[in-house]
Amino acid sequence: MQDPRVIVALDYDNKDTAMAFIDKLDPTLCKLKVGKEMFTLFGPEFVKEIIAKGFDVFLDLKFHDIPNTVAKACKAAAELGVWMVNVHASGGLPMMQAAKEAIANSANPSTKLIAVTVLTSMDQEDLKLLGSRYNPLEAVASLAAAAKECGLHGVVCSPLEASTVRKIAGDDFMIITPGVRPAGAATSDQKRVKTPAEAIKAGATALVIGRPVTGSDNPALAVKTILQQIEEALNN
Ligand code: C5P
Repeated sequence: MQDPRVIVALDYDNKDTAMAFIDKLDPTLCKLKVGKEMFTLFGPEFVKEIIAKGFDVFLDLKFHDIPNTVAKACKAAAELGVWMVNVHASGGLPMMQAAKEAIANSANPSTKLIAVTVLTSMDQEDLKLLGSRYNPLEAVASLAAAAKECGLHGVVCSPLEASTVRKIAGDDFMIITPGVRPAGAATSDQKRVKTPAEAIKAGATALVIGRPVTGSDNPALAVKTILQQIEEALNN
């Protein structure tokens, strides 16, 4: 079985509900993403429980702090046994390098480390506030190049930016994209969306998808349908 390219975003405020949902999924067909809300509510124990069920976990805590602090947080995440953890590329080169070194020297050095480029909620005005002269796409390109230079495994970006990042960073670089909606699914509050096939064709390695799966009556079937759409895109 190929490495699953679907990462289901768990955005639950109730652990029992989350566990009942997870029990409907197959760890060979998808990975799981735990973000700030669930980690704050249920902590490392929750992460360990879902790892024990066989799932690869993407711990989406988007660390952004001084290099020493981020390095220690990344080491702790790696030693929790997660598959992947992330930092903000805007934390700078020394921060990304320190994070990478800390994982390499941890008890779980194979943990993947990726960087968030520009949050899709940010526009040019927000970037101006940071003193940046770049538009969002230029900022994504610059930050992706920085992440690559630091030896990170990849980045998180919008599917609309994936093809630009793929050109800059080459084939051996993970591009993880949220903002994906299967054809015909409700877009909810995601404004700039692409379908799984479009995201994969643009160069995405794996897709973060939440509500189209968590809100489905048959989550396992929802995952299989998305995997089929990905397969078709890869074969076309
Ligand atoms: O339900 P939905 O598919 O919109 O969930 C997407 C997940 O990806 C959520 O956990 C959300 O926080 C996250 N995310 C996002 N856009 C980003 C970064 C993360 O939607 N730019």
